[in-house]
Parts: sequence; structure tokens; C-alpha cells
Amino acid sequence: MQRFPESVIREMTRVAALHHAVNLAQGFPDFEPPAEVRAAAQRAIDRGGNQYSITWGAPELREAIARKAKSFNGIDADPEKNLVVTCGATEGMMAAMLALVDPGDEVVVFEPFYENYGPDAIVSGATPRHVRLPWPDWRLDAEALKAAFTPRTKALILNTPNNPTGKVFSRDELRLIADLCADHDVVAVTDEIYEHMVYDGGRHLSLATVGDMAERTVTINGLSKTYAATGWRVGWAIAPPAIATALRRAHDFLTVCAPHALQLAGVVALSLPPAYYAELLRTYQAKRDRFVAALKAAGLDCRPPGGTYYVMVDFSRFPFDDDRAFAMHLVERCGIATVPGSSFYERAADGRHQVRFVFCKQEPTLDDAIGRLGRLRDG
Ligand SMILES: Cc1ncc(COP(=O)(O)O)c(C=O)c1O
Repeated sequence: MQRFPESVIREMTRVAALHHAVNLAQGFPDFEPPAEVRAAAQRAIDRGGNQYSITWGAPELREAIARKAKSFNGIDADPEKNLVVTCGATEGMMAAMLALVDPGDEVVVFEPFYENYGPDAIVSGATPRHVRLPWPDWRLDAEALKAAFTPRTKALILNTPNNPTGKVFSRDELRLIADLCADHDVVAVTDEIYEHMVYDGGRHLSLATVGDMAERTVTINGLSKTYAATGWRVGWAIAPPAIATALRRAHDFLTVCAPHALQLAGVVALSLPPAYYAELLRTYQAKRDRFVAALKAAGLDCRPPGGTYYVMVDFSRFPFDDDRAFAMHLVERCGIATVPGSSFYERAADGRHQVRFVFCKQEPTLDDAIGRLGRLRDG
């Protein structure tokens, strides 16, 4: 564990508190889950749901997940054979890596990356092989991806819509990934936790539905982002039966089960009507438009993210040595906490002109942050 640094994101959250800064570092909403979902959690605590659930998930929740995976993603999941409920997508990814890879294997990871993927692979004994998505469009370079596959490649981790870039992988990109996984007998592990935040009329596409990928894909998701419940720690993985069995064992040893009462409340969350998702999307897209405009007005270079609630900016126009210096200036002088770009790259130097902002905040919080961004221009 000593080779892993402290999570920079959680560190920035601490520094934000110290400076009474608006925390635009860590990706959690500052508003509550829908009222009926909270009420369901309270009912579940009052009427049972306080002891262990079946290790791999309460049957009602697995059924609700299977229904939604079919209707929204077009994925066929048998609640008995394909599903594992975990403590968040975070545990789902770790359990998937423990289930799939052996020491000496390699795992393809896109860069910039969500900061858990490398450690997930390394803890499982594997070596991450990074494939760069270059600034500013984050377009996938087919040759770079092909070159990352070796005889040791066992798995590929895909996150679409993507944190930190906001990239939504296109159908052609997913097809290329699918072809390479099939050619090299590689399992894809996809983190689709931002699936309901795809802007500008785009549509989320699950890799498991591309060609024959269902037989070699683990699809990970959770309640955290779609229902503003990051503290509940309820996620899941959908996998072919043999992989699901291995994943269940890893999950059993790691955590036994996800919080039972909150799994039961998850049934209500997953049964919300389409209007809930339409409103979620409308609200986040409006936040994105407003916040990206404010970043540009403050002199920061960025592209509107195609999905998620993150935006990466390039601050080269400002005279700072590196991303840490800029992030510290932002928190100390402007009162805004961000995440230094270097935390999303293997080599710190590659992210030295970038920082990441989140915009999953209520309007008054965004108003405050936008006001504070003005201080950047004033020095
Ligand atoms: C890409 C990605 N995956 C997973 C997570 C964490 O998900 P969970 O709360 O379900 O563990 C995050 C949180 O920021 C994330 O950005």
C-alpha cells in the first residue's frame, strides 16, 4: 500500500474545508436523493432490512437492476446468474479485477483515468497499460490502442461517459474496442456510472450490447450518481455466469454484502419513471452550459464535456509552474477546490497544465463558484 499516494481528490476536499472553499474537487452532489427514495430507505430500516442480505444482493434489487438494464441499456441479465450487488461501483471494479486477473497479467486503461483503476489492477497483481486520450478532444487513437494489447493482456477497463474528460465513447470507438477484445480474448470491464448524463441529444451505449461483447463484458454501475446517493454504497456488476461466480466470491470476502436497507430503497430508485431521468439530464446540461461559459469567461481553455458532471481545463495561459501550484492558488486565493490534472496521469508532467472541476452542485453553490472564478482574472 505504501506505493499508493493518498487520494488527491479526498486530500483536496480536506484542503477545501480548511480554506472555506467551494468544493468542486470531489464528485458528489450537494443535494439529496429523490424524496420517495429516501422514504423507502427509512421504511426499509423500520421494517427489516437491517441484517445481511444474500451476499450477492437482495433478490428484489437484482430483479430491478435486470429490468432497468434491459429497458435502458438493452442488456439481458438473469438476476440469478449474471448479477452481483456490491458496495458501490468502486467495490464492483475491485472485485472484478480480483476475479479476472492473475499476477503478471496486463490491464488496458485509458488515460487520463479515474484514479482507482490503476490501483485496482495493481492490487490484483496486474500491470496497467495506459492508452492516451489526447487533449482537447480525447479522441481514441486506434493505433495506440492496438499497440497496448500484448499476449499478457487479460482485461480492459472502459469508463463511458468518462471521468475526468467528459468523453462519451462513440459507436465506432466501442466497435474497435470490441474487435480488439475479441481478437485478443480479453474481458472488458466497463464503468457506466454516468450513463444518464449524456448531453446534446447523445445516447449512452453499453459495450455489452456491441456485437458478441455480452459474453466478455462486466458492466458496472450503481446508485451513487444517478440518484445522488454517493454515501449509500450500493453498486452492481453484470457479468457472464462464470465471471459473476468468481466476482461473487471476491465480493463475499471483501464486504459480505452492500447495506441491505439501502439495497431495498434502490428498488424504488430503479423504478422511477422516465421523467426522472429526463429532468436529471435537463438540469445537468443546463449546469454544464452555464459553468463551461463561466470557465471560458475566466480565461480557462476547455471544451463542453459530452457527458458526466466533470470538466477538464487547460490553464496554460496563466503563469503557474504546474497543476498543483494552480490548484493551490485557486483554493487559497479564489476559494475554489479542484483536482490537479497530474492525478489523472501516470506521469505527473502530462497533466501539469490541467485541473478538473465538478459541476454537480445546486444553483446557489454554482453562483458562488462562478462569482469566485472572477477573482482569477483579478489575480
Ligand atoms: C468513474 C467513476 N466510477 C466510480 C465512481 C465511484 O462510484 P461508487 O460511489 O458507486 O463507488 C466514481 C466516483 O467519482 C467515478 O467517477
